[in-house]
Amino acid sequence: MDLKIDLTRTKLSKEQLKGYSPDTENALEKLWSGKEDFTGWVKLPMQIDPDELEKLLNTAMIIQDQCDELIVIGIGGSYLGARAAIHALVGFDEVYGTGIASSRYPSVKFAGNTMSAVYLKKLLKDIQTKEVSVCVISKSGTTIEPSIAFAVLKEAMINKYGKEKACKRIYAITDAKEGILREEAEREGYVTFKVPDDIGGRYSVLTPVGLLPMAAAGIDIKSMLAGAEAMATSTAWDFDAADYAAARYALYQSGKAIEIVEYYEPQLEFFAEWLKQLFGESEGKDGKGLYPDALRFSSDLHSMGQFLQQGHQIFFETVLNVEKPSKDIIIPDSAGELLAGKSMNQINKAAMEGVMAAHEAAGIPMVRIDIPELNAFYFGQMIYFFETTCAITSYLMGVNPFNQPGVEQYKQEMKQKLMAL
Ligand code: PA5
Repeated sequence: MDLKIDLTRTKLSKEQLKGYSPDTENALEKLWSGKEDFTGWVKLPMQIDPDELEKLLNTAMIIQDQCDELIVIGIGGSYLGARAAIHALVGFDEVYGTGIASSRYPSVKFAGNTMSAVYLKKLLKDIQTKEVSVCVISKSGTTIEPSIAFAVLKEAMINKYGKEKACKRIYAITDAKEGILREEAEREGYVTFKVPDDIGGRYSVLTPVGLLPMAAAGIDIKSMLAGAEAMATSTAWDFDAADYAAARYALYQSGKAIEIVEYYEPQLEFFAEWLKQLFGESEGKDGKGLYPDALRFSSDLHSMGQFLQQGHQIFFETVLNVEKPSKDIIIPDSAGELLAGKSMNQINKAAMEGVMAAHEAAGIPMVRIDIPELNAFYFGQMIYFFETTCAITSYLMGVNPFNQPGVEQYKQEMKQKLMAL
């Protein structure tokens, strides 16, 4: 395994972690048995259909030729994985979207993940001024935010291109058979891909849900799948990988209520968001679960650093360290003796090590995960590693990692309010 997991600062002994081995082994067996609902993602990296992969790559090339901007409509599991990957591997625009356009690849913007009219207006302007394609992603086809965004953006696409040409610029990823989006896609002749029945939203990043937007943005999805496969088949599940899942559970049992994911490269911002959904929706039920949070360092040290160092210690920290960032800068002499001549990456590492030493002295349990570099291969490893970890810890907690009954409740309440408008 190329990711490195360091649990020494959790202060859990090897013997303590070993005590959980029978349970983590059972959890892994259950995941690989093929008998549990919604575990299609477990073997997916090894079993991806070559024809589907070919169709994905061909469609990505058509999108690249067709547009300057791809608008990806979706929410939750139908959006965060693609956004995380594109933000980390392609680049990002801090305010309105992700994905830097180049002569070869379109920029990628995301819609249908808020109900902000301000943001949608901006995308409507993009449709007037740029060549645009739209990829609408919804497993159910009925989620309210993407449905609104799709209705508004589709109308603008039809106004600009005419119906026939607009339909050739719309790509739909949805349930194989059911739902209004599937019906519409077949009626209007959109190019479609299916969300597999046995994979839920937050575990779907390595299906067309994540892979089509990523491939359109120029990410090497074959390499990403190879990274996921390397992680799936790694012998590390016999020790340190499974131990992280056990450590999360042990810390939860010892009274820690929050896991804070901390990162020192802003490229990981949406990976942390994806992680929050994965952990939060999988574990948070039946009155159980670790509350997942994320902090961007060093920015958040200047807002949350005080609390972390001396506040109510209901949390532990998981530090994501990118060993070799893709760029570096040497600090000029004018920055003063302490900093001049050193590289930005050296200083960032010193910050990380300094913070970890200070937090260790304060008694905060910490996990450190080293990522060799941010590329598609290691990103595939990261996705698979955290999905499996999350499922194992959920089983240790005694909750079903693959449902989200609580999400439905607010949707029903909102529907009542809408009917009263
Ligand atoms: O993980 C999940 O299941 C959810 O976050 C869904 O992905 C999200 O609610 C969007 O659902 P849908 O794809 O049906 O629009």
